[in-house]
Amino acid sequence: MQKNIVILGTQWGDEGKGKIVDYLSQNSSYVVRYHGGHNAGHTLVVENKKIVLHIIPSGLLHPNVIGIISNGVVISISELVKEIEMLKKHNFFIKKRLFISHSASLILPFHITMDIVREKKLGVNSIGTTGRGIGPAYEDKVARRSLRVGDLKDENKLSIKLKNIVDYYNNQLVSIYQHASFNYKIILKDLLKFKNIINDMIVDTTMMLHKAIQNKKSIIFEGAQGSLLDIDHGTYPYVTSSNSTIGGVITGTGVGPKNLDYILGVTKVYSTRVGNGPFPTELFNNIDEYLSKKGNEFGSTTGRKRRTGWLDGVALRYSIQLNSLSALCITKLDVLDNLKEIKICTAYQDINTLEIYTNVSFVNLENIKPIYETYPGWMQNTSGIKKIEDLPKAAKNYIKSIEKIAGIPVDMISTGPDRNDTILVRNLFV
Ligand code: IMP
Repeated sequence: MQKNIVILGTQWGDEGKGKIVDYLSQNSSYVVRYHGGHNAGHTLVVENKKIVLHIIPSGLLHPNVIGIISNGVVISISELVKEIEMLKKHNFFIKKRLFISHSASLILPFHITMDIVREKKLGVNSIGTTGRGIGPAYEDKVARRSLRVGDLKDENKLSIKLKNIVDYYNNQLVSIYQHASFNYKIILKDLLKFKNIINDMIVDTTMMLHKAIQNKKSIIFEGAQGSLLDIDHGTYPYVTSSNSTIGGVITGTGVGPKNLDYILGVTKVYSTRVGNGPFPTELFNNIDEYLSKKGNEFGSTTGRKRRTGWLDGVALRYSIQLNSLSALCITKLDVLDNLKEIKICTAYQDINTLEIYTNVSFVNLENIKPIYETYPGWMQNTSGIKKIEDLPKAAKNYIKSIEKIAGIPVDMISTGPDRNDTILVRNLFV
């Protein structure tokens, strides 16, 4: 049956979306990355091989799936080519199955430099970006001066546009940041080299998706980052520069909301955040150490240690509302296996007025402390379990509590990094 599924993160990214996209892509014809850039890091384990994708849609590891990088993404062509080559080494051949929107904006070397020098200048007030040039590239898009993928097709125009934008960046880099200037001719030469590799992939992806919908093909929309990093609805300014909530699918692809059949919110059973900004349930004790180690909570893009905390039910409810989620997919359940007690934050308390809040907007998170409910752990191995009935009773109860707090069902559970370490509570394709 045809079904268009959005898979997005409900927290601050790193919920384990890549694996879920890979798993559900088995039943779909298309998989689409629709926002963000190579700041994302989607880790997949397939046939004992660990593969980390930053820009290529995760579902492409299935040989019959067609991948699309749509207009909402900011693309570093050099990183894309690197990733295509990496996959080739692992015997995944995707060239004829990957298409890139002609309207996607490019990330160029000066965006990356600008991201890094700005963060350095901000010092203790830095955002903690991934240093991949995401913010500057989206700024150029909104300021209508981006180089777009389609510009690669016309060398003359490309050269003029590139010179203008390099001048624009050089002015700031040299005068404000005392950084060396860029030579546009060197960047142009690289772009033309990469263009030859990706030329056949450049298409109008919006039309391609409209056609796929007309032909009743199933499409997976693959979110990056997480809802609380959304430029509008996240913990601004400690956010990424795109819409990681549901609106990003629509503007980032040109597919209308009525064509989205099911929206799955991927939620890790505890919270993590990499980079700076508010994090109400953050832990600084031996549980942090445990979660970091057992959950391997180190950034797959930057290698940074992720901050860890208990699952935040207030944040989860906020994400459910922001995204009209149909259901949740719970990930990393097995990471909790050795904990005697597990906590979930169910409300926030204002530390001055003592008022209790169960629904808040994440735009203002000052002066609050989390209120927790405590659940018994199961102290049993759940790693690799594939059927819900095989889970320990305390784990089943814990999942039921999440459903109660969320007010929507848990349709999937991930019990390990491998594609097959998955419990499908309900068949999403019927
Ligand atoms: P940027 O997206 O590189 O500009 O970084 C902005 C914020 O988003 C920083 O706190 C990053 O650590 C965070 N961020 C960006 N991409 C990811 C991701 O894929 N997972 C988790 N955090 C991310």
